[in-house]
Amino acid sequence: MSSFLIVAIDGGAASGKSSTSRALSERFNFLHVDTGSYYRAITAEFLRRGLRIDQINEVKAALPSLAFGTQIDGRTARMQIGGRVVPESEIRGPEVTAAVSYFAAIPEVRTALLTYQRGQIDVAQAHGFHGLIMEGRDIGSVIFPTADLRFFLHADPVARAKRRELEGRADAVAERDRLDTSRTTAPLKIPEGATDIDSTFLNLEQVVEKIAAAIAQKLR
Ligand code: DC
Repeated sequence: MSSFLIVAIDGGAASGKSSTSRALSERFNFLHVDTGSYYRAITAEFLRRGLRIDQINEVKAALPSLAFGTQIDGRTARMQIGGRVVPESEIRGPEVTAAVSYFAAIPEVRTALLTYQRGQIDVAQAHGFHGLIMEGRDIGSVIFPTADLRFFLHADPVARAKRRELEGRADAVAERDRLDTSRTTAPLKIPEGATDIDSTFLNLEQVVEKIAAAIAQKLR
């Protein structure tokens, strides 16, 4: 499977990673993995079990019981926990959005997800996809530092807060970035050697075209 491509897309909250990755996955028949949705699914499960962000020991003790699986929905991978996909309405809700960065900062939570995230290559290949496009905060730096292509998307925080507002979603974009950037394990940062794209003044199509050109060149 030498032509199977791995594309890493990192960036802050509401930087346009998901829309961009989804569009590219459609164009190139790649599996789209939104790792933020994985951290959100775990967070929803912790909250469902009554765990709080300061109960680090209880969170660590709960990790082995999560039993991750993957459901493929079109070209998108969805995390299953104990055989259940946590619904989008739940993982995008305000309680999960407010808590996710705290749970994601716990090193053991990240370790529990590391192998699972790398295993998405096998899932993609088993389903006949031509590549994997994975978005998050640490994909190009920690999960796939040797990915074929690595991008970092950023945009002005005011523009990003506006995007969430237009989507009707409560999201303290700058505060989540602060937490995600300042944590000790796998912080949000531009991976060395990644291509930096500032999308403040670009629309979705323009960002997609930039990355699509790089993918097309790799596939040639
Ligand atoms: O992409 P998102 O905003 O839905 O991600 C939700 C949170 O998950 C984000 O605030 C930090 C965490 N996250 C992470 O720590 N590492 C990733 N690779 C992806 C997300």
